[in-house]
Amino acid sequence: MALVRISGKLVYRGVFVFQTLYRFYLAPVILISRWGKQLHLFTLLLYLLYFIMSALIHKIAIFASGAGSNAQKIIDHFHQHPQIQVGLIVCNKPGAGVIGIAEKHQIPVLLIEKEPFFRGDAYVSALQAHGISFVVLAGFLWKIPPALVAAYRGAMVNIHPALLPKYGGKGMYGSHVHEAVIANKETESGITIHYVNEFFDEGAPIFQASCAVLPSDTPETLAAKIHALEHQYFPIIIEKCLLKPTAIL
Ligand code: GAR
Repeated sequence: MALVRISGKLVYRGVFVFQTLYRFYLAPVILISRWGKQLHLFTLLLYLLYFIMSALIHKIAIFASGAGSNAQKIIDHFHQHPQIQVGLIVCNKPGAGVIGIAEKHQIPVLLIEKEPFFRGDAYVSALQAHGISFVVLAGFLWKIPPALVAAYRGAMVNIHPALLPKYGGKGMYGSHVHEAVIANKETESGITIHYVNEFFDEGAPIFQASCAVLPSDTPETLAAKIHALEHQYFPIIIEKCLLKPTAIL
């Protein structure tokens, strides 16, 4: 894996340096050189390699409605990744913290509205126009409409702050989940990463990790433990879904 990362980066950097040299220095020299033909062919080959590499890049969109701590971890994890790039942040709340995170990292933001999301094409054409091949729900609270599920079936994952199938479904999000877990005197909670289907929190599970719930825990202390698990595992599970799908199924 390390080798793939390094060689991917080297090819990209090499091609970038060559393109720059070609545009500003080599092109005029090549025109009058007797090696012109061969150099042109070599350049063409490099461009081809560049386009193939670009086609192999997975561009992900992160859907988030809140603070965006998971989005931040995912962006950090894929920063300069040779094959995976966070290409878009999708948000339904104009004041959400995740928008500031996107701006800091110069990632485009798509602010979505209820009407076109639920009664239009669910922004499928906008995602496709951004070249998005994989969708990550990281604290996104609207139900995903069938058109969007169909367009990204098997290529859309969600993180849930409990051990599904317990504490899932409509209304079960964020602190509501932790309050219910504590009220039921559970001794264990955790996270579930799962594929998204037409039903709230019912898609095929991919990964779970658990933590102890102590009698002294409050919804806030439990939320902190859950966030720590999410930050630790979500980015690497996304990477595995994209690069080694058979390893986790
Ligand atoms: C996360 O804990 C995530 O599991 C939860 O929202 C939080 C978002 O935190 N998602 C759900 O409850 C979905 N049902 P963040 O904005 O700091 O990433």
